[in-house]
Amino acid sequence: MDNVTTHQAEEDARNERVRIWINGTLKPRAEAMVSVFDSGFMLGDGIWEGLRLYEGRWTFLDEHLDRLFEAALAIDLDIGMSRAELTEALFETQRANGMHTDAHCRLMVTRGVKSRPFQHPALSRQGPTVVILMEHSRPSIPRPIRLATVPHQRGLPMTQDPKLNSHSKLNCILACIAAEKAGADEALMLDVHGFVNTTNACNFFIVRKGEVWTSTGDYCMNGITRQKVIDLCRANDIPVHERNYSLVDTYGADEAFLTGTFGAQTPVGEIDGRVIGGGEMGPVTKRLRALYKELVTP
Ligand SMILES: Cc1ncc(COP(=O)(O)O)c(C=O)c1O
Repeated sequence: MDNVTTHQAEEDARNERVRIWINGTLKPRAEAMVSVFDSGFMLGDGIWEGLRLYEGRWTFLDEHLDRLFEAALAIDLDIGMSRAELTEALFETQRANGMHTDAHCRLMVTRGVKSRPFQHPALSRQGPTVVILMEHSRPSIPRPIRLATVPHQRGLPMTQDPKLNSHSKLNCILACIAAEKAGADEALMLDVHGFVNTTNACNFFIVRKGEVWTSTGDYCMNGITRQKVIDLCRANDIPVHERNYSLVDTYGADEAFLTGTFGAQTPVGEIDGRVIGGGEMGPVTKRLRALYKELVTP
């Protein structure tokens, strides 16, 4: 079976011609480059957000900016731009690319160019590197995702807080590689206690007897889509629990799905070789997808 990723999109030739915003200048894709001395390239020292454009609106922009500025505070990085300036740069890039809907943006801020090739943040003296990279993007995932559990954990906050959307994604990447080698598409990661937590790139939910369960949120990204799904459940009388649960609960679930800005809600068909429910998108996932679509395209 061909491998599928949660961030698979339809081919779009326009993406060869996108212009990318780098520190105030719009560059054609082939010329959009950062220095080999950049803190992000050299050390993964940076933060980012993934945003989506639906019908002329950057969905949940405030929440994304809140999370970005919070991450900057956490890593003691001065973005050097206000929320209004960043928003204007986002709109400028959108206009330059003639985008109205179905676009994805990766907004990245690193500690900038270093004076010498070493770790100390004091060597990053030139100010941050800010990049706004947009693509025309319609998610196209041909079948439910297959997950495999992996030995890589979602760690405690004092090592590298899993809530931080940092450029250093090696833990998640290693998890994804392990899952692929096990014949799955992506990784299902456990927390330090062995409870089911999240996947390497998305938040994770199960449905059992009409109830929606997700992890307590302690060891995973504080996903904006995750929170919106929880809010939608509450607003629509769908029982929802943020709780600890194990693989036993998960293999026996009626449905499982992932959440993330890119794919909204993505069905999971198989975990560790066990088919989940009927292996296809279930009715609760379908309902939540419809409710979410209404929310993002009013
Ligand atoms: C590890 C991880 N989990 C979950 C998510 C989904 O978060 P959101 O719903 O805010 O896109 C992301 C996205 O950045 C992520 O990197």
